[in-house]
Amino acid sequence: MSEDILSVLNHHRSVRQFDGQSLTNAEVTTLVTAAQHAATSTFSQQYSIISITDQDLKHEIGEITGHHWVENSGHYFLMIADQHRNLAIAQAANADTSVLRSFDKFMASVFDAAIATEAIVTAGEAIGLGSTIMGSILNNTQRLIDLLHLPELTFPLLGIAVGHPAEKPDLKPRLPQALMHFTNQYIWPDDFAVELERYNATTADYYASRNSNLKQMTFSRHIIGELSRDPNLRAELVQVIKQQGFNLD
Ligand SMILES: Cc1cc2nc3c(=O)[nH]c(=O)nc-3n(C[C@H](O)[C@H](O)[C@H](O)COP(=O)(O)O)c2cc1C
Repeated sequence: MSEDILSVLNHHRSVRQFDGQSLTNAEVTTLVTAAQHAATSTFSQQYSIISITDQDLKHEIGEITGHHWVENSGHYFLMIADQHRNLAIAQAANADTSVLRSFDKFMASVFDAAIATEAIVTAGEAIGLGSTIMGSILNNTQRLIDLLHLPELTFPLLGIAVGHPAEKPDLKPRLPQALMHFTNQYIWPDDFAVELERYNATTADYYASRNSNLKQMTFSRHIIGELSRDPNLRAELVQVIKQQGFNLD
């Protein structure tokens, strides 16, 4: 029996340790079905899913992402932004296909793939599975495109490692709603500093007491730490997206 949906959503945590057991075909179908029922921009269903079951491919994804633990996941999904299928449908009708290459259509396929991703995560959690979404597949997008033979008008957006959890990470506290939920316009909170300080204290407690990887950290320090990322990281992405046939100009 599935848990109440709000309880599932409000107890989400990313899981990175799995017991090594593969998902059954029925479990995989359940997750893909949940993805398919997600909302999709203009009912165009402009994404595809590739299940990675080959251990060598999983190893490659471990290399690309730096997350070698994916090899122990019960299943790996690659979520593909995809206008290629609709291109084939349009070409068969001799229609003008240029709009499928537009930035707007690229974005629509990104939205579709991302929303389907969250559906998979939530559906998995509802049946006792855990997962981690992985943007780190973009560390070497071209390698992934070549490995998976991705055709024009496709782009690998996210990976999802799913499996039977071998850990139960503590819930990561989220921002107070006063700092992220506004009404009618973007309203900078008068008590921004107070709210932030309170949240930093909450996150400091979380980092200092969680059940693994204890550290002295706050949300502000985390955000500042993120600034030391190489600004040229994945600078080639725009070029790769263009090479896949999307017109970003
Ligand atoms: C778009 C996206 C990309 C992510 N990429 C990675 C990733 O490459 N590696 C990873 O370990 N976690 C990744 N995550 C998981 C986040 O780190 C995680 O959701 C965040 O730290 C909050 O923790 P929680 O999911 O446990 O609440 C990603 C999450 C999202 C939404």
